Amino acid sequence: MARGLLILVEGLDRTGKSTQASILLDKLKPNAELVKFPDRTTPIGQLINRYLTDESFQLPDQSIHLLFSANRWELSQSLQNTLLSGKHVIMDRYVYSGIAYSLAKGIDGMDFDWCIQPDKGLIKPDLLFFLSNRDSLDTASREGFGQERYESLAFQEKVRDQFYRVLERLENYSQGTDSNRLQMINVTNQSIDQVSITIWEIVNRKLQNEPPTDFAFF
Ligand code: TMP
Repeated sequence: MARGLLILVEGLDRTGKSTQASILLDKLKPNAELVKFPDRTTPIGQLINRYLTDESFQLPDQSIHLLFSANRWELSQSLQNTLLSGKHVIMDRYVYSGIAYSLAKGIDGMDFDWCIQPDKGLIKPDLLFFLSNRDSLDTASREGFGQERYESLAFQEKVRDQFYRVLERLENYSQGTDSNRLQMINVTNQSIDQVSITIWEIVNRKLQNEPPTDFAFF
């Protein structure tokens, strides 16, 4: 049986990642599942949630980086099983966020190679949508922005820069070039519907292709 596709929606904060992931899920249902990282429901996810929502809860930057990765490993076997059963998985954030956010902190010793190490061996996505916006003012104008750790304009600017570095390292991305797998979508001045139509066209095209048989790993 053909395995399902792993379709990842990544990108900057408040660019509509979760909205687009759930619209895509509705279109592919019942043959798809949604996985969101961090998954705040697992024991590790609960620690991550506390770190994000409670300023007084301190953890070393190395520890929280490893917890985000451990959270992905917690679900990796069931992810593989779901894909092997023929179901598609739509994912909201993954390894790319993990590295970009940690690099943005600028911690000595936490360079790209350090950050990718714990994620090595996780399944790579078949399609990666990267949603961006013009600048962080777009981000800050979204409802609810600023309530969690990392939600400050200055930090988001650093995350933005680091995301492009991560895409260069992991996807050979250079400004203006999209690969077969990496699809860059700038959501500035686009409605939710417009973005979802673009995503659906690309997914549909991929679904017409010969389905992948094996997995690629980070
Ligand atoms: P969320 O807002 O999509 O639930 O993500 C929670 C925050 O966690 C967001 O600021 C991005 C950050 N994050 C990391 O720092 N590392 C990771 O590995 C992931 C998945 C998210």
